[in-house]
Amino acid sequence: MKILICGKGGSGKSTTAALLAKAIAEKGYKVLVIDSDESNFGLHRQLGMGLPDDFMNYIGGKKAMIKKMMKSMPKGKPLSIFDKTWRIEDVPEEYLSEKNGIKLLAIGKIHDFGEGCACPMGVLAKEMLENLEASDKEVVIVDTDAGVEHFGRGVEQGCDIILMVVDPSYESLMLSVKIEELAVGVKKPVYFVLNKVDNESKDVMLESVDQNKVIGMIPANTDIFRACLAGEEFDVHLAEIEELAEFLFSGGV
Ligand SMILES: Nc1ncnc2c1ncn2[C@@H]1O[C@H](COP(=O)(O)OP(=O)(O)OP(=O)(O)O)[C@@H](O)[C@H]1O
Ligand SMILES: [Mg+2]
Repeated sequence: MKILICGKGGSGKSTTAALLAKAIAEKGYKVLVIDSDESNFGLHRQLGMGLPDDFMNYIGGKKAMIKKMMKSMPKGKPLSIFDKTWRIEDVPEEYLSEKNGIKLLAIGKIHDFGEGCACPMGVLAKEMLENLEASDKEVVIVDTDAGVEHFGRGVEQGCDIILMVVDPSYESLMLSVKIEELAVGVKKPVYFVLNKVDNESKDVMLESVDQNKVIGMIPANTDIFRACLAGEEFDVHLAEIEELAEFLFSGGV
């Protein structure tokens, strides 16, 4: 299963990706987390790992990627960056961090001033995911950048399901409608995970999103907040995440 996690900036995409990865790995699945957010440097910390080398370097770096994109563009030819189907074990070790059954791959980060836009990262993420096969005992979790730009880049195409993280904000609730529409276009099932939920926000959130698609609710949790603030790994076990992981593998989606 390849799960793409999306949502508004700061809604809790990386937090959900990390919590879910840990819960799924504890069930004995091999988990590959793909960090496709070029701007944020938090996910590896939440997982208690170092940041691996950019996977972009595997294909010669961002400039080489741009050249490939320019070459294929006028002819409308497929990019064909990978000449074979990938499995998780095919990813070279130097592009992975690993801990407790979870592997982390980072597509590429913006490291320097003026290095140009992040389109090559999006294209590489799309190509990588479309060519990556996960077996029944393997799960791929993709953490994306904020908003909907990745839809424009087609990153969703290589995934089986889309999980949108919705936090208690008007923007997030509005975005849930937009993402439902975009998911129809890409023909992928979309589900919502409500995050930072408390007694005050729960009902409003449930009334404002398509309730049939809500498959999880993560409470506002002080341990998560503190770990994020300190840039530390979570040591948080939530029944709500367990239930979400169960649901994902029970044929519920
Ligand atoms: N369930 C939660 N309980 C308490 N705080 C939370 C929870 N989930 C997320 N947060 C807080 O929200 C912040 C943003 O979370 P996170 O980095 O996961 O969001 P994001 O959607 O990945 O953000 P970005 O768009 O910047 O990548 C965290 O630093 C943390 O303070
Ligand atoms: Mg994030």
